[in-house]
Amino acid sequence: MRIALQKKGRLNDDSMKLLKEAGIKFNIGSGKLVASSPNFPIEVLFLRDDDIPQTVADDVADIGIVGENEMVEKGFELSIVKRLGFSKCRMSLAIPKAEEYPGLSYFENKKVATSYPVILDKYFKEQNIVADIHEIAGSVEIAPGIGLADGIFDIVSSGSTLVANRLKEVEVVMKSEALLVSSSNLSAEKQQWLEELIFRIDSVMAANSNKYILMNVPNDKVNEIVKVLPGMKSPTVLPLADKGWSSVHSVIQEKKFWAIIGQLKAIGAEGLLVIPIEKMIL
Ligand code: PRP
Ligand code: ZN
Repeated sequence: MRIALQKKGRLNDDSMKLLKEAGIKFNIGSGKLVASSPNFPIEVLFLRDDDIPQTVADDVADIGIVGENEMVEKGFELSIVKRLGFSKCRMSLAIPKAEEYPGLSYFENKKVATSYPVILDKYFKEQNIVADIHEIAGSVEIAPGIGLADGIFDIVSSGSTLVANRLKEVEVVMKSEALLVSSSNLSAEKQQWLEELIFRIDSVMAANSNKYILMNVPNDKVNEIVKVLPGMKSPTVLPLADKGWSSVHSVIQEKKFWAIIGQLKAIGAEGLLVIPIEKMIL
């Protein structure tokens, strides 16, 4: 099975990390265009992110990890196997910071620079805005400063590129994240290996978003603590050598952790430990 990944950039780092955490090793050859795996029947093609949708659509690669923005822009009908939750960004319109923004009418008859003309054209049509879309391949953010455009439409992640170029984000047109996509013509054998890969990715993603927590709790508070913990099943409660105390173990979602930590302490939990989970089999 062949997977297309971004050659370099943010998407590449996160994609490689995910595959490594899924236990897939790589032998990266010189030049870094292809890589094979000694322990999984997969070959990696390293490509420009813009080329990934077509490569999968044409069955040159069976699967790929691609930004949703690139897939929508290129217009290929690929099956989305999984939303991966990383490389999150917005596709936004931005204008010079000093300009007043009256709403979308700002863009009427204005020039907008972008590398994503298809998405922008569709959006302006939906919003009944007639504007001049000026396609450029890169460094879109400098276009207003050099008088090439009145505004830009580009990827915004941290927002620092906008700040550095004295621009402000005025409309979010779409949100994007990394997607695992596949061709619709996989052989039965490749489909099976894809299922195995999905299973591993699910285990990694679950592990990354959950933590194992343990704490010491006075016996008469155990019931109250158990009610606060949103674990997979009911938590484990073990007696401590110190009479009158128990050790309570549970798995909780990391995003819920800070919300309940105060409650646990208020009830009387002590010595809280939070431990990362390597893999979580669902
Ligand atoms: C995108 C975009 C901006 C930057 C925004 O470029 O074109 O330059 O990211 O990110 P920020 O809000 O965190 O500053 P990318 O890194 O994808 O490179 P590319 O434009 O060369 O593809
Ligand atoms: Zn890019």
